[in-house]
Amino acid sequence: MALIAPSILSADFTRLGREVSAVETAGADWIHIDVMDGRFVPNITYGPIIVAACKRVTSLPLDVHLMIEKPEAIIPDFAKAGADYISVHTETCPHLHRTLQQIQELEVKAGVALNPATPLSAIEYVADQLDFVLIMSVNPGFGGQKFIESSIDKIKALSDLLAQKQSSAIIQVDGGINADTIASVARAGADCFVAGSAIFNTPDYADTLAALRTDAERKGTP
Ligand code: DX5
Ligand code: ZN
Repeated sequence: MALIAPSILSADFTRLGREVSAVETAGADWIHIDVMDGRFVPNITYGPIIVAACKRVTSLPLDVHLMIEKPEAIIPDFAKAGADYISVHTETCPHLHRTLQQIQELEVKAGVALNPATPLSAIEYVADQLDFVLIMSVNPGFGGQKFIESSIDKIKALSDLLAQKQSSAIIQVDGGINADTIASVARAGADCFVAGSAIFNTPDYADTLAALRTDAERKGTP
């Protein structure tokens, strides 16, 4: 089954609670929350208080994508705020094995995110530890960017790597997911699709989510 995770980065923040409830009612599977520090990525967004606020309005799993330096210092605060999934970027974690352990000891599912230029070898020796892998299909920092085509080969290679390691980690893809790209991403082996602008910039979230899910599950076959 395809999991669809709307990214609140493209939501209307003057009415965040209603936006989160609306995508839940519309059939979302997870809520994706992009945390940016203005250092690892050029943009700055929000921290644990927004995660806690989302927790109060939805029963969906909260998926926290940490695009921040030294994530280990603040991971406990995100766990306390109600994160169900936390991904850290391998580019920010010199002690990745330890950081993944830290997340799992807090009873949160642990994932590793990889920038478009980061090779899969970065996760080869932690594959057995992972609950999910996040393949960035744009350079992290902003919503509404164009999907990077080389991500397709990377998703296929990740799918092979996880099979070889007998890992059941979920493959999540983030960036430029929309009606034009989702089927090929699904065909390459993705399980979970993050979409911000392709959902929140449309008038009817239920219609949009249903169309994305159909495309992801049919994988482009009629
Ligand atoms: C980008 C974020 C994404 C972003 C995706 O750094 O990680 O989650 O919200 O936005 P779209 O779906 O508009 O490409
Ligand atoms: Zn994200």
